[in-house]
Amino acid sequence: MTPNVTESSTLSEEELKNFDLKKLVLENGDYTIFPDVEYPPLVSFEHDDPGKRADPNMTSLFEKATKIEKLTPKLGTVIYGLQLSELTDQQKDDLSLLCALRGVVFFKKQNITPYQFVQLGKYFGPLHVHNAFGHPPHFPEISTIYYDRKSAVIQEKFRYYRSSDAWHSDISFEEQPGSLSFLKIDTLPSVGGDTTWADGYAAYDKLTPTMQRIVDGLEVEHTGEYHRQLAAAKGTKIRRPFIDHVHPLVRTHPLTGMKSLYLSPIFTSRIVGLSLHESEAILKLLNDHVIGGHDFQVRYKWEEDDVAVWDNRCCVHNAIVDYFDEGLRHGYRVTPQGERPFYDPSSKSRRQMEQEKAANGNN
Ligand code: SIN
Repeated sequence: MTPNVTESSTLSEEELKNFDLKKLVLENGDYTIFPDVEYPPLVSFEHDDPGKRADPNMTSLFEKATKIEKLTPKLGTVIYGLQLSELTDQQKDDLSLLCALRGVVFFKKQNITPYQFVQLGKYFGPLHVHNAFGHPPHFPEISTIYYDRKSAVIQEKFRYYRSSDAWHSDISFEEQPGSLSFLKIDTLPSVGGDTTWADGYAAYDKLTPTMQRIVDGLEVEHTGEYHRQLAAAKGTKIRRPFIDHVHPLVRTHPLTGMKSLYLSPIFTSRIVGLSLHESEAILKLLNDHVIGGHDFQVRYKWEEDDVAVWDNRCCVHNAIVDYFDEGLRHGYRVTPQGERPFYDPSSKSRRQMEQEKAANGNN
């Protein structure tokens, strides 16, 4: 059993700034703590998305990068030559828009520290402090990515596990789920440990018009049951109760105005207003659609100190856990919360928007 641990010391601002999680993990192994504390309920807030201030051409990013590489036609862009720790506010605003358009953006060779990571994340919204996940000492806003293959619970969990069982959009069980997520991977096994993302705009566009009419306007219950069970198996504390929330199955992205299929397979429990067997059949069909949609997925092979920034409103992701015999994979994630998901019946799909642009001679 993993013990519940309470943070015993406080650090000065200077010490926090120099806190080095890579050093800690390499010297001490799993440093993750599960403090024996209770968090107050989250409070609703008005989300002011930095992407609304973005330059539509995102010039501040594109002109300063040394190289831009598209990983697939619509999903995933790699940016070379920029440090996230040094972005101007304009570049952050433009990054928000770029993520909304390309789903996930990767930055190579990042020197950003955990302290700076938290500061950066906060620019995009209040950082979610996870209800149950383990975190590093002194940084409750950071979710640690570390699987210790020696742990009996983890061995059991992954024995019959396929990574395709764990697609999700971060913290979709919250009333105001994650807008963006920032993930730095600083330690990699000799091989394996990739991550995959799937494009929610394309997932919607790849449904037939008849199916689109069925899913448009439906609502789905999202639950933290997955985390409840994980915490129970590990014997760790749930620091804030998980509360179910209902979100639209097709959501309108506040920056692009485009419809995205908002599925989060490990958190979506049932479609509101349908019988259980109707709901299960439709969710299974849609989950299979996303999981098998290789033409709208990207699989990223990390290099140490890469950072991925993705938009949870228009893509789902999942870590490929194939590396336990190949060494340690370590990283950390922060997730700013965004708006409450909404569906605007007058919004359009990406394909519709592109077709309209082309028809207007504005390609
Ligand atoms: C996550 O699911 O947020 C982490 C993904 C990863 O470890 O690659």
